[in-house]
Amino acid sequence: MNFENLLIEKDNGITVITINRPTKLNALNKVTIDELHQAFDAENKDHSTKVIIITGSGEKAFVAGADISEFANFSVEDGRKLAAKGQELLFDFVENLSTPVIAAVNGFALGGGLELAMSAHFRVASDNAKMGLPEVTLGVIPGYGGTQRLPQLVGKGRAMEMIMSAAMIDAETAKNHGLVNHVVSQAELLEFTKGIASKISKNSPIAISNAIEAVNANFKDGINGYEVEIKNFGKSFGTEDFKEGTTAFLEKRKAEFKGE
Ligand code: COA
Repeated sequence: MNFENLLIEKDNGITVITINRPTKLNALNKVTIDELHQAFDAENKDHSTKVIIITGSGEKAFVAGADISEFANFSVEDGRKLAAKGQELLFDFVENLSTPVIAAVNGFALGGGLELAMSAHFRVASDNAKMGLPEVTLGVIPGYGGTQRLPQLVGKGRAMEMIMSAAMIDAETAKNHGLVNHVVSQAELLEFTKGIASKISKNSPIAISNAIEAVNANFKDGINGYEVEIKNFGKSFGTEDFKEGTTAFLEKRKAEFKGE
């Protein structure tokens, strides 16, 4: 698949999706959101892909936000649709993917950029990364899940301050707040993230996807996460991966999971 604004690199079960609009600091325009949807969907369906890493091209930005030039003249209804469509196609879509997604935050992650990073299952940042939700400086609010996912990750008070002040935080602060899991130099960012992805890729894909669903259930209205956990725990016993995992343990060898 060829994309206008994405680069796709596949190696050893790990796919790196790079948003490639460096002259616009990788801002998310409509084409890029559509392409990201297609790329994530295709990788999720490709069972040889065990982990997806999302990052930005260049040394300056992960993603500097939604493309402001595209919504400057929007009406109330246009704005509502922009948020709804974006959440459906990209942000909720990524969060609920059964394949693990790691954001490698390589610079500015602002507005929709931070919201994309927060949709990933977890985040690693380079030490030059800067994160924030500057929407209120434009007279709007975060519309791609930022008001919901930021409080989940950093707590309500910190999220309120970040959203109201529109201030950026640096990578170390983001780590202290639980927004990113690791901070490494920019030169090491991809290799370090691939190292984590490689560990994940050796584990049962089906168990991982069931775990993602159970963890996400904690944050969904009207769904009892404990019940999802019980259901998915039970389901595990009917999988080939479970047979392989337990047999390999008893035979003192490494498991070879098929994701079935
Ligand atoms: N939407 C559209 N274009 C954007 C963009 C965005 N969110 N963020 C950056 N760009 C474009 C700039 O317009 C500029 O394009 P140009 O060269 O054609 O004029 C290019 O990317 C480089 O950005 P620039 O502002 O010149 O870089 P900088 O180093 O001076 O500042 C930022 C970097 C990130 C601080 C600044 O670009 C910025 O504040 N961006 C907007 C962030 C934002 O509010 N995001 C939330 C959107 S809801």
